[in-house]
Amino acid sequence: MANGFTKDGAGNLDQTLRPQSWEEYIGQAKTKENLRILLTAARERGHSAEHILLYGPPGLGKTTLAHLIAKTLGTNMRITSGPAIERVGDLAAVLTNLSPGDVLFIDEIHRLSKTIEEVLYPAMESGVLDIIIGKGPSARTVQLDLPPFTLVAATTRISLLSSPLRSRFSGGTFRLDFYNEKEIESILIRSAKLLGVETDSDVFEDIAKRCRATPRVANYLLKRCRDMAQLENVPLSRDIVERTFGLLDVDKLGLNKSDRAVLEAIIGKFGGGPVGLNTIAAATGEEESTIEDVIEPYLIRLGLLERTPRGRVASANAYSHINDS
Ligand code: ADE
Repeated sequence: MANGFTKDGAGNLDQTLRPQSWEEYIGQAKTKENLRILLTAARERGHSAEHILLYGPPGLGKTTLAHLIAKTLGTNMRITSGPAIERVGDLAAVLTNLSPGDVLFIDEIHRLSKTIEEVLYPAMESGVLDIIIGKGPSARTVQLDLPPFTLVAATTRISLLSSPLRSRFSGGTFRLDFYNEKEIESILIRSAKLLGVETDSDVFEDIAKRCRATPRVANYLLKRCRDMAQLENVPLSRDIVERTFGLLDVDKLGLNKSDRAVLEAIIGKFGGGPVGLNTIAAATGEEESTIEDVIEPYLIRLGLLERTPRGRVASANAYSHINDS
């Protein structure tokens, strides 16, 4: 097409943009190297790899890493999540359906109940499933052997995991970090190529500065900018980026409405803090977990917010940012 766009299918773009190899996966260099050694060694020994825990804010690539782990081990990945496993029977069904060597990916593992966690311990440690049959004095335990498997778990809230659960990730616990602007630009260049979007480096720089240092957000913003350029039948330019961001309420620092609402509440209603999380949640209408998992990590990274023992405090930079915007 004349404006530099190609028509792509309506398929799942997340899937299209997901890196398919370690070479394509940009950033998180230390974690990648540690995983490469762990996985290659396990594969050479002909064993399943030890269990791995990935944590960090949403959108930084935990699920993508899990896919790459399974690929490197040459096995299938079964996917489930903390909220999807409601009863012990659900976990038992997942575990007994694994094939030898499979990777089991449990997203949001911090949302497993205590009872289910306790069934997971022996499964992780000794490869067995303890099932209690009956109730009261006649109850007995039946032990089932499970196929060897590698659990890859992801969480945005490592502090909510009990220490017995944490200690069972013998392959390691890896924290994913926010990406720097150069890394995000590289991710955007790759995504633009895959999406058939032609543009120049200024556009990537502009998006990289305002995507919360998060690949998922960067790709989302690229797609929304592409939409606007496509509708106007013009190339994707800095002007298109500016106007798209304006419509999406993404400001100069990449903060969205929810981020700003939190800062505005702390400053406008609570004198800059310290103020408790539940009070901020009530004042903004955001869930406490969204504030803690999604909003705060980036505000803290920008130095706009501080978590103190007495509550959240807005920084001097937060005042100037809110007053300027
Ligand atoms: N898309 C999302 N995360 C990515 C990453 N880390 N590298 C390349 N592309 C990505």
